[in-house]
Amino acid sequence: MDEVLVKCEKLDHFGRGLSHILGKIIFVPNLLPNEEAWVKIVLDKKKYMVGEIIKLVKKSDDRIVPKCSYENCGCAIKCLNYPKTLEFKKNKVTEILKRYGNLEKVIKEIVPSDNIYGYRNKITLKVKDGKIGYFKNGTNELIEINRCEISSEKSNEIIEVLKKCDLSKVCEIIIKDFGEVMIIIKGDMEIEVLKPLTTSIYMNDRLVYGNENIIAQLGDFKFYVSKDSFFQVNTEVALKLYNKVLEYLDNSSGKSILDLYSGTGTISLFLSKYFKEVTAIEINEEAVRCAFLNKELNNISNVRFICGDVSKEIHKLSADNIVVDPPRSGLTIDGINDILKINPERLIYVSCDPMTLARDLKLLGENYEVKEVTLFDMFPWTYHVESVCLLIRKNF
Ligand SMILES: C[S@@+](CC[C@H](N)C(=O)[O-])C[C@H]1O[C@@H](n2cnc3c(N)ncnc32)[C@H](O)[C@@H]1O
Repeated sequence: MDEVLVKCEKLDHFGRGLSHILGKIIFVPNLLPNEEAWVKIVLDKKKYMVGEIIKLVKKSDDRIVPKCSYENCGCAIKCLNYPKTLEFKKNKVTEILKRYGNLEKVIKEIVPSDNIYGYRNKITLKVKDGKIGYFKNGTNELIEINRCEISSEKSNEIIEVLKKCDLSKVCEIIIKDFGEVMIIIKGDMEIEVLKPLTTSIYMNDRLVYGNENIIAQLGDFKFYVSKDSFFQVNTEVALKLYNKVLEYLDNSSGKSILDLYSGTGTISLFLSKYFKEVTAIEINEEAVRCAFLNKELNNISNVRFICGDVSKEIHKLSADNIVVDPPRSGLTIDGINDILKINPERLIYVSCDPMTLARDLKLLGENYEVKEVTLFDMFPWTYHVESVCLLIRKNF
């Protein structure tokens, strides 16, 4: 394919260098603003192209040599220095909230991660033809790895051991490391060598060694983590984020609160100290089972967990305040209408996708004022960012 000289104008929302050439947009991974490079066109569509750097001819002062040399992994902005990655994320959410949510000057700050390497408590590894790694973005082409710099040191030790094992009958391995370690294997392999490194091993959904759940410590609380339930991947930043939720609810403590999309009950248990009554809704049965165990583990009695779909359960409930932490798809229209009917004083929206957040804030905007948004760098070196928004009911 053709090679072209490209000058990067800015980063797109996925952290790729964006430029215009031959009457089209071109996206070039790892090309930074103001840099110039000879680029090979690897995809040529009607309206856009995707290129790969062949030779960098003008380098940005913000470029760093990343700790990891693997290409096309999830760390799309690993060539940019860390403070600039934070600036990129803040600018990106600012632009999305303005464009799709009609909101300006609501972002207070972006809170960094103290650990910018080794922060991930969970890694999903793909295995193909006995080799371990990850699939190149959007393909099932395996990139073999020796280690992953954003995963915990213990996970990397386990990768080293796994690489010496016969993985010919395995297709995926998940490692969860919270001090206690769980390994979840899809396929068959000899596990004896893994036992000294773990608390729990599952093979093809069956517990084959150790404990059913592992325990994570978060602030003053302990949480059971199960095979399938959701847990924030950066424990240190999750704690900062939950404290921000508490701070945003400050003036209304003592009253009743709903925690929607509650996972294993992490936010609910954090709130239980400050609110008379906490009601949580979560659809994943295993997460709710963990949430009940977590309630017992932390000696908490004022939290009620409901296993069900928020859209089907919420209209039966009422509360003075609501916290929502939905998946990337955001809230449903019915969910938004039900929240508006409950009419809480304060609504805290925790989001991992600024696009759906902007859409939902716009819909909630008739009845609620978006007072402040704080961003959290839960996933350093990736283009992802978490947002926590404080919404306050308007007085009509
Ligand atoms: C981003 S996680 C938040 C979990 C929790 N707040 C935490 O911080 O650990 C979103 C959760 O929403 C749950 N979920 C997804 N769709 C749902 C629905 N329709 N009703 C209830 N829960 C749902 C998922 O199972 C997941 O646990």
